Amino acid sequence: MIEKAIKYIKSIDDKTYDYAVVLGSGWDKVAEILDVKYEINYSDIPGYPTCSVQGHKGKMLLGEIDGKKVILLMGRFHLYEGYTVEQVTFPIRVVHALGVKTIILTNASGAINKQFKPGDIMIITDHINFAYQNPLIGVKATEEYPIFIDMSTTYTPTLIQLAEKASKLNNTSCHKGVYLQTTGPTYETPAEIQAFKALGADVVGMSTVPEAILAHYLKMNVLGLACITNMASGISKTPLTHQEVLDIANTNKQKLCDLLRSIINLL
Ligand code: HPA
Repeated sequence: MIEKAIKYIKSIDDKTYDYAVVLGSGWDKVAEILDVKYEINYSDIPGYPTCSVQGHKGKMLLGEIDGKKVILLMGRFHLYEGYTVEQVTFPIRVVHALGVKTIILTNASGAINKQFKPGDIMIITDHINFAYQNPLIGVKATEEYPIFIDMSTTYTPTLIQLAEKASKLNNTSCHKGVYLQTTGPTYETPAEIQAFKALGADVVGMSTVPEAILAHYLKMNVLGLACITNMASGISKTPLTHQEVLDIANTNKQKLCDLLRSIINLL
């Protein structure tokens, strides 16, 4: 299926791309800074899953940001939609085959760390995989791509430093911390959040980890950015809604856009 997808994309644009950004909930404004050369609907790409979540658009944009060749993936696939971990990570294999060496994974997250607040951004330094799904299960190891891989630098240290530098240049303060993924679709219980806190998680969300694992396995540089849309269950005084997540992400759009642009400029 990957071969068919690549063949189709190459029939539209046969250039190679250096960078890709997966745009999570609320990050779609970033598309405005891309000088779009080609726009491809996911539904037209053979083998590509389709998007069902409100706020996720379901298309691939190929173009340039300040002279850098970038693929934007507008909309991602989640385990909670019923996709397999292979489907969730299919786009990562596709952009890898298109030449991408550096990938930026963005998402919306709930804050467990009480120092954080809605509207803040966290650079992901590490993750806890409570989705318990791994895209490398069943993958045949090769000499070039072994499957027992070290995970201590999944989120590329030099990219973490670069993102910190970009945030300073941009006057946007960013936190750094640990992202924990659940499968969703339910938000967490207050007891789960307390447990996750004790385990060292700073934020919680329902995406990113399988993509980061596969990208790391494929030897790509990975940067993870979490936009904090709410305080996690039990820390927040009010019940969580998907609308609240979208609303905060919406008011924060310019900041996310500016940060991403500065990061891409420094790459
Ligand atoms: N929990 C899980 N996923 C999320 C949250 C949350 O609080 N906020 C945004 N995505």
